[in-house]
Amino acid sequence: MPAFSVSAPGKTILFGEHAVVYGHHAIAVPLFDISLKVSIQPLPNKNKILIINSDQGNRHISFEKKEDNPYWITLETIRQSLNVDHLPSMEIAISSSIPVAAGLGSSAAFSVALTKAVSGFLGFNLPVEKLNSIAFEIEKHQHGSPSGIDNTVVAYQSPVYYRKNEFPIFFNINKPMHLILADSGIRSLTKDVVLHVKQELEKNPDKINKIFAEIEKITIEAKGTLETGDHRAIGNLMLDNHIHLQRLGVSIIELDCLVEAAVESGAFGAKLCGSGQGGNVVALTSYDKTEKVIKAMRQAGAVSCLRSTIQPTKVLD
Ligand code: PMV
Repeated sequence: MPAFSVSAPGKTILFGEHAVVYGHHAIAVPLFDISLKVSIQPLPNKNKILIINSDQGNRHISFEKKEDNPYWITLETIRQSLNVDHLPSMEIAISSSIPVAAGLGSSAAFSVALTKAVSGFLGFNLPVEKLNSIAFEIEKHQHGSPSGIDNTVVAYQSPVYYRKNEFPIFFNINKPMHLILADSGIRSLTKDVVLHVKQELEKNPDKINKIFAEIEKITIEAKGTLETGDHRAIGNLMLDNHIHLQRLGVSIIELDCLVEAAVESGAFGAKLCGSGQGGNVVALTSYDKTEKVIKAMRQAGAVSCLRSTIQPTKVLD
């Protein structure tokens, strides 16, 4: 079997996180400036799978069952989905520039890239729908009850208007969007924050459902503004969405300070992105204000700022 190499982009959710878990719409875009790469080569005469993750030192796993090993669970999910009896000996090398547990899609990129690489190595040419559905199964093992937006935007590598259990809608972005992803340096686990929202919903269903309904309205309006390229309107909607995420209890003071710094230094808008309680803030700015906004966000506590430009897309009707 010849060696096989693939990569998958990061992502950011522009509108609708958390509400999307409860059947509302959300919008996400791929971030091609960060990515996760998986390379596979044969390991002749060795009855094992060797995993080398350059972020975590070298890791080895064999074919033994290890239910608590996330690599084993992932490979087993892929094997079963492809309907193959066993996986051959191979060396899997993983390297990534996507920060982990920061809301930028590291786990979705891992699920998508590993599925694509293992299936490609075995000679399968999976349609993207199948790739996405296997990645979704892997995400379920890692996060409990994900909405599926992360694996979808990463698998299709296109801006997506997404609703759980429906086929994703791909749409056109009309003008380049200059985004800044400012990292609070605080890490949180998606499944913990999703659980926090679930508990809030159980305690106070009327209040939380109203917040979800407000977020849904913002997301629907945002799709139109993204299509027309009205950056001022998009920025205002991002700020509105951030306020509702605060009301859900998923923002923290460090993220609020980054949002405020972005807006005061001239960004069109900003909001936390992903599950929150840490991770990144995404800011939308004009090209000429990028440096100023980055400087302000750094002064407000960002440990790093990544620029990413979303290029206009042309989706066929
Ligand atoms: O923090 P992330 O990148 O895993 O974002 C998750 C988005 C949520 O809406 C909070 C959860 C989900 O499954 O959609």
